[in-house]
Formats: sequence, structure tokens, C-alpha cells
Amino acid sequence: MKTAIIGYGKMGREIEKILAERGHEIGLIIDVDNRADLDTRHLAEIDVALEFTTPATAYENIRCCIDRGTPVVSGTTGWTARLPELETRCREKGGALFYASNFCLGVNLLFQLNRQLAAMIDRVGGYEVGIEEIHHTQKKDAPSGTAITLAEGIIEHLHTKHSWVNDLPAAPDQIEIRSVREGDIPGIHTIRYESADDRIELRHAIKNRRTLALGAVIAAEFLCGKQGVYTMKDLLGNNHIKTDE
Ligand SMILES: NC(=O)c1ccc[n+]([C@@H]2O[C@H](COP(=O)([O-])OP(=O)(O)OC[C@H]3O[C@@H](n4cnc5c(N)ncnc54)[C@H](O)[C@@H]3O)[C@@H](O)[C@H]2O)c1
Repeated sequence: MKTAIIGYGKMGREIEKILAERGHEIGLIIDVDNRADLDTRHLAEIDVALEFTTPATAYENIRCCIDRGTPVVSGTTGWTARLPELETRCREKGGALFYASNFCLGVNLLFQLNRQLAAMIDRVGGYEVGIEEIHHTQKKDAPSGTAITLAEGIIEHLHTKHSWVNDLPAAPDQIEIRSVREGDIPGIHTIRYESADDRIELRHAIKNRRTLALGAVIAAEFLCGKQGVYTMKDLLGNNHIKTDE
């Protein structure tokens, strides 16, 4: 497939390597200096765009792809309050959009375990829950998109929790998300349940950015030629995932 990379930073460069390894063509690379090239002419023959930029620019980049009929995979975090607008726009225009707050396949297994554990805790009671996320110091948003997805998964299943707070004392119906910024850590997430007598932890540590870029490229392969709005749930429910091509 012929691809466009929008955002040539840490993720864009990692995605470039994986695209090449998997035999895909890179027809366009957009970053701040040439962002005006994100237009109809340059997107004309692109099968799918991969967008990893900044919270301030993701919305416009994705909208631009949808309006020009280019399927787009995005993983930019810290802006998703406006994601529903773009999902609606995509459906109206017959476009294709794949968004994930975390493209690591293992994190998406964690999302499923997190929901199951919250449902089990809901039945037994007696545990207080908290989330901790640790990332590199250049990360622009806090809490991480992944921690928000984890909190939402808990809120769906644990009837005592209705919202989350970041780095503030939590009220009884809130989940505290603690954000730590340290070194070059790609991402560690821990969900911790604590009773008077014991502690249960679900913990996931990403070892490198490669896993994130690979997930995004697999999502792009999945999206290519499709219409509609997709997430990792659609991808993981699909038994054509091959991570070792
Ligand atoms: N969903 C996931 O799995 C996942 C994984 C890693 C990072 N992320 C998110 O992806 C985003 C990018 O992460 P990164 O580590 O590559 O950051 P980065 O800062 O290394 O790269 C961002 C790049 O976007 C460029 N950019 C800024 N404005 C632009 C515009 N208008 N058009 C095109 N390019 C523009 C910047 O110049 C920079 O090169 C962040 O929001 C991060 O949280 C998501």
C-alpha cells in the first residue's frame, strides 16, 4: 500500500521503518515545515495516512484526510474530546478512520483484563483502585490516553466509580490517576486494587516504541480499502493479525 506519514517525530520515524520492513511504499511525509502539503494533490494516490503529531494539530490533520477521502490511522493523544466530531464527519462523508490511544497489542489485552478485573471487584467489593502511568519527560499530555482508557474501562464496570482525577486527591467516587515523567520511558501503566489485607496489580511496560509503530501499521493494513470508524477492538476481533510478517 502507498502511505503518508503525518508527523515525522519519534513515532513517525519508527513507523517509517516498519512500513519499509513490511514492503509498503511511503509516498508522503508531512511535518511542521511542509504542513501545507497536506492537500488534495499530495494525498491523491495515498491509500492510508498515519497521523502521530501533537494535541494541538491532530484534529485538523485528521479532518483534512477525511475531507479528501484518505483513510487515516491516528494515535495522537491529548485532544480526543473532539474525536466524536470527526467520527461523525467520517461516517457522513463515507471516509475511514482508525483511532487508538495505544497501538501496542499487549496494552489492548491489558484493556480487556482491566475491564474483567473491574467487573470481578464490583462483585466482591472491599478494594480501592488507583492507576499510575510513567512516561518520558517529553510527553506533552497528562494523564496518558492509555490511562484515560483504563479509567473509562473501570468506570464502565465498577459501580462505585464515576470519574477520574489526575494528580489530585480523589473523592470516594473518583479514580486517582498518578502521572510520573521520567527519563526516556516509552510507557508503564499499573492498575492497583488495594484492600485492608492485600493488593492486586495489573502492570504493563512497553519495552520500545517499535511495538506501538507495528500496531499502527497493522491498523493501517486493516483500514486500507475500508469505510467507517474502527478501533483496536475491531482489529483484535479480526483473526488476520500477523505481527511477524
Ligand atoms: N497511540 C499510540 O500508541 C501512541 C504511541 C506513542 C505516541 N503517541 C502519541 O503520538 C503523538 C506523537 O508522539 P511522538 O512521540 O512521535 O511525538 P514527537 O514530538 O516526537 O513527534 C511529533 C511530530 O509532529 C510534528 N508536528 C507538529 N505539528 C504538526 C503538523 N501540523 N503537521 C505535521 N506534523 C506536525 C512535530 O514537528 C514532530 O516531529 C503524541 O500525542 C503521543 O502521545 C501515541
